[in-house]
Amino acid sequence: MTNVRALAAQTLFQVVDKGQSLSTQLPLAAKQLPVKDRALLQQMCYGVLRYLPTLEHYCQTLLEQPLKGKNRVFQFLLYVGIYQLQHMRVPPHAAVAETVNALQELKAPGLKGLVNAILRNFQRQQAALEASANGNPVCQYNHPSWFIKALQAGYETQWQEILHANQQQAPMWLRVNSRINSVAEYSAKLTAAGIAHSVHDGFSDGILLNQPCDVAQLPDFASGACSVQDAAAQLAARILAPQAGDHILDACAAPGGKTCHILELADCSVTAMDADAERLKRVEDNLARLQLNAHCIQGDAAQPQQWWDGRHYDKILLDVPCSATGVIRRHPDIKWLRRASDITELATLQAEILRQIWPLLKSGGTLVYATCSVLPQENQQQISAFLAAHTDAIWHPLDETDTRDKPGKQFLPGLSDGFYYAKLTKKA
Ligand SMILES: C[S@@+](CC[C@H](N)C(=O)[O-])C[C@H]1O[C@@H](n2cnc3c(N)ncnc32)[C@H](O)[C@@H]1O
Repeated sequence: MTNVRALAAQTLFQVVDKGQSLSTQLPLAAKQLPVKDRALLQQMCYGVLRYLPTLEHYCQTLLEQPLKGKNRVFQFLLYVGIYQLQHMRVPPHAAVAETVNALQELKAPGLKGLVNAILRNFQRQQAALEASANGNPVCQYNHPSWFIKALQAGYETQWQEILHANQQQAPMWLRVNSRINSVAEYSAKLTAAGIAHSVHDGFSDGILLNQPCDVAQLPDFASGACSVQDAAAQLAARILAPQAGDHILDACAAPGGKTCHILELADCSVTAMDADAERLKRVEDNLARLQLNAHCIQGDAAQPQQWWDGRHYDKILLDVPCSATGVIRRHPDIKWLRRASDITELATLQAEILRQIWPLLKSGGTLVYATCSVLPQENQQQISAFLAAHTDAIWHPLDETDTRDKPGKQFLPGLSDGFYYAKLTKKA
């Protein structure tokens, strides 16, 4: 298949109806397209996922009955068509004609009349349809209602800001490899290469690009001069503060962004552990590009008896599995794949991982707990409960927002992704 709209419709069907993740489906579809069309595919898939409830609302109004069963993929084709008309700079006549043409490749030429009529009706009724969608909170914010409620409960004054940030395109941050260049040196290389960027206080290894670009354009990327990593994610290693000679566990390490950063900062020994063997291969690839070494092992963080050699760690980074609600703008499928019940299940797993990993830390050692979630249940509430149950754990505030009532530092999506950190040490 080579029609970008047909591929977008099929990808969206796999994600929304079949529960597949966008990060596995999109590359499979992109492979079938010439390189020049891949950005368009991505833009359509991300866009439809960002505005899914609104697009559903429009189609509910425009279609006499929804397309069901084996015709579901055509419902997604309609979303792709309407998304282009509403949000993209494709000339409207081309958006309609190309969407209708996709039916040829989807082997449903008989639906051309229907798709053409719905898209034309959308154009005619656009203003009225938009007004009716605005009256519905799920369409207004384009997030599931359970998530809107959870944010309202956790962020009385900021919940709308978070929802708005989740609808934006994520920025591209680089982490400069301090073994090769200082940030100032690498910034000069970027300037020489004509890549506009900026540096920001509080993110000491980071450079923010004005526009995302292909890594092949970045100076010395292949030889490890920099990595692509969000600014808040770059703080994990800085908070852990590795020193030469430290024996460190990076539990839940794949794909290894933080493992590599730790090793860039100090000559320490790192065990990079993850439950997923496939994802562990990506840790090895990243280590190889950056010419770093770690001991990579597959294991379950909740069952250290299966893999731990009995030697206590000076420092542990626990970047636990989480809802990823802090990175929705990078993975808009999260909004539709996660359920409210997942949060309680994840919080139970995180508590168990913390409880099982804590005994592996030396007396006097440091543990950094991290998530890319914005939900208090996975963050402050998790750490409060842990501190209440572990009298040998000492909490270290990371700044003035990190208080005993609400321990940990919460980053919200904006300049960086949404992230959470808490720093604990074990009584000596
Ligand atoms: C947030 S990601 C880690 C990102 C990574 N620290 C980085 O910076 O590149 C969470 C990881 O936890 C792993 N994971 C999930 N459950 C696990 C478990 N029970 N034990 C160990 N790893 C687990 C997943 O495979 C996933 O790679």
